[in-house]
Amino acid sequence: MTDEDIALFKQMMEWEGQRRAPPDGFPDLPDMPAARYTSKEYFRLECEHIFRKSWLFAAHIDEIPEPGCYMTWHNAGDPIIIVHGMDGQVRAFYNTCRHRGAPVVTEPRGRAPRLMCGYHNWTYKTDGSLVGVPQRQDFGNLDMACRGLNPVRCEAYGNLIFVNFDADAPTLTEWLGPLADEWVEFRFDKIRLAARHSFELKCNWKVAMEANMEVYHVPYIHPETVAPLVDAQRNFNSFYPNGHARMLAPAPRQTDRAHVRAIESPPNWQRIETVGELGSTATQSYTLFPNWVSPLSDYFVPPLLFWPTSLNTTRLELVTMALDWGDGPPPDLWTVPDEAMPGGRQMSQIILEDTQFGEAIQQSMESAGFKSVPLSYQEARIYSFHQHCDKMIGIEQVPPELRVKQVIDERWVWPRDPRIALMRQAGRTLAQ
Ligand code: FES
Ligand SMILES: [Fe+2]
Repeated sequence: MTDEDIALFKQMMEWEGQRRAPPDGFPDLPDMPAARYTSKEYFRLECEHIFRKSWLFAAHIDEIPEPGCYMTWHNAGDPIIIVHGMDGQVRAFYNTCRHRGAPVVTEPRGRAPRLMCGYHNWTYKTDGSLVGVPQRQDFGNLDMACRGLNPVRCEAYGNLIFVNFDADAPTLTEWLGPLADEWVEFRFDKIRLAARHSFELKCNWKVAMEANMEVYHVPYIHPETVAPLVDAQRNFNSFYPNGHARMLAPAPRQTDRAHVRAIESPPNWQRIETVGELGSTATQSYTLFPNWVSPLSDYFVPPLLFWPTSLNTTRLELVTMALDWGDGPPPDLWTVPDEAMPGGRQMSQIILEDTQFGEAIQQSMESAGFKSVPLSYQEARIYSFHQHCDKMIGIEQVPPELRVKQVIDERWVWPRDPRIALMRQAGRTLAQ
């Protein structure tokens, strides 16, 4: 990020703190139908079009560090295997034997130069090709060249491995758009996987995720934890192509930096020196469509991932990535030891605060007492996310009573943003 960009964003945060109404021209956000969180039909459309066509975070290279290492993955439903090939390339396949569908591997992780199905010992190379069929002669003219493991698209951004079920999807780099460059300073090519834990939540995946997509709630449910770090009044949301977004907010003026550093930088964390001024002095939280939210800073890359396991249940993955932490315990931003279960982990205070209402909200949304969701300008990151959900599904395919209106149009998508001119205009007016 250039010095000019940094100066601009700092001005935008100050301008946000001073405005007394939503910016001129910013659209009023129509109510969103509550049924978007409760409709079986909408959930089916999400699974089919959003989770089958988006790039999804699946693994960190530390989980399959050497050639021959593999891991299973099923967060998006279908059973997948991610394989670090003997040729060094990382690939993904359906974990489904081309004979009669048994799993090709059964352990969550392992290492082997070949993958052998346990049912009848069909054997595959790590590039997916079928190389062994016992009693081959009894299959007549079976063409082994056509019976390799079915691939799933798999691409990396630094050390992070993403998958996509759609053969026609754009490349991962195209999908990331401006984020691919903007994230270079966070050293995705160097960060290691420090922690990855899952928890089951009893609410729709969007209910859970949206608790992390605005800072309007921060003073009220996080008075002790996040509020000293984030000035909710001075938060500036940017909308990016492909449904991604960024929130940027400074610490409240009364918070001194020593306090912030004490919370954010435990002693065994290594600072990511390339992170610029905004990442080290403000809180930035990115939405990576569809289900990743991550507050990137100069100490960590800690995505929260929200996987729908049914219409009203969600698997929350809490991941911490950081630069090498030496001999100490790996840093873990989001979980703490579970006192009730030796060796177990439980959600940290911040995550407990953010998830506390999910189940009750889901019950409300399923009741007759809640019909629609009104969102403020500060919550527009949620609205634009819903707009993109409908776009991914295909707006015409969404039943009319479930759609959101596409009111945040391309004019507001970064790097275009009429608010920059408004901010400059306000600055000139003040100077006069
Ligand atoms: S199902 Fe895999 S070898 Fe038969
Ligand atoms: Fe929160």
